[in-house]
Amino acid sequence: MNDKQLVAIQAAHQVKDGMTVGLGTGSTANYFIQELARRHQEEGLRITAAASSVVSAIKAQELGLPLVAIEHLGKLDLYVDGADEVTTRMTLLKGRGYDLVREKLLARGSDQFIVLIDKSKLVGRIGEKFPIPVEVMPFAWQLVKSRLQALGAHAELRQNAAKDGWAITSHGSLVLDLTFDSHTDDETLNQQLNDIPGVVEHGIFHDIATAIFVADNGKVEEIWK
Ligand code: A5P
Repeated sequence: MNDKQLVAIQAAHQVKDGMTVGLGTGSTANYFIQELARRHQEEGLRITAAASSVVSAIKAQELGLPLVAIEHLGKLDLYVDGADEVTTRMTLLKGRGYDLVREKLLARGSDQFIVLIDKSKLVGRIGEKFPIPVEVMPFAWQLVKSRLQALGAHAELRQNAAKDGWAITSHGSLVLDLTFDSHTDDETLNQQLNDIPGVVEHGIFHDIATAIFVADNGKVEEIWK
């Protein structure tokens, strides 16, 4: 069993009968969906699931999990997802994929948010290893880019996988990937990005996670808020 599978199975055991559970996106979230489906089928665990992406919805449906559309949800009991970076203050970087808007919506709308990572994803500050993605309304990208540059960011419009056009998220937005020579602090940057008109969402998840499960060579450490 690999580390991603290990944390995912441990998180799936946090799910109680009758819960509404949000499904993240990515390879770690996929393992969580698998284990949840196994518990649903073999242990008769009754849950309602909400998916943060089309990919996760298809996976959950194939495995027989009962799904509800996000628009029918008032709140969730638990959201479980991976992340690209996590700081000691439990601030996350997410959104290497294309499903940032739904991921943050479900994470914020949930009583608990468990983040599943391996030790390599622990960082001193957000943006240390990966660019910070900012989803922008397509007509706003140049004005947003100017605002970001004024904050000291290098902002690159993300290309699609074939590198023959621009990446379009599942929400229909463009993505500006930000790097900084240095930025003030994660909390301030989070607020600055929240305040720019034309930004749909961004990849800093500040003060949302309630627990981080960290896998390290076959062992899992649970860090609860
Ligand atoms: C999805 O948009 C991302 O935020 C993923 O949750 C993140 O990249 C972690 O992915 P893995 O679980 O595949 O490492």
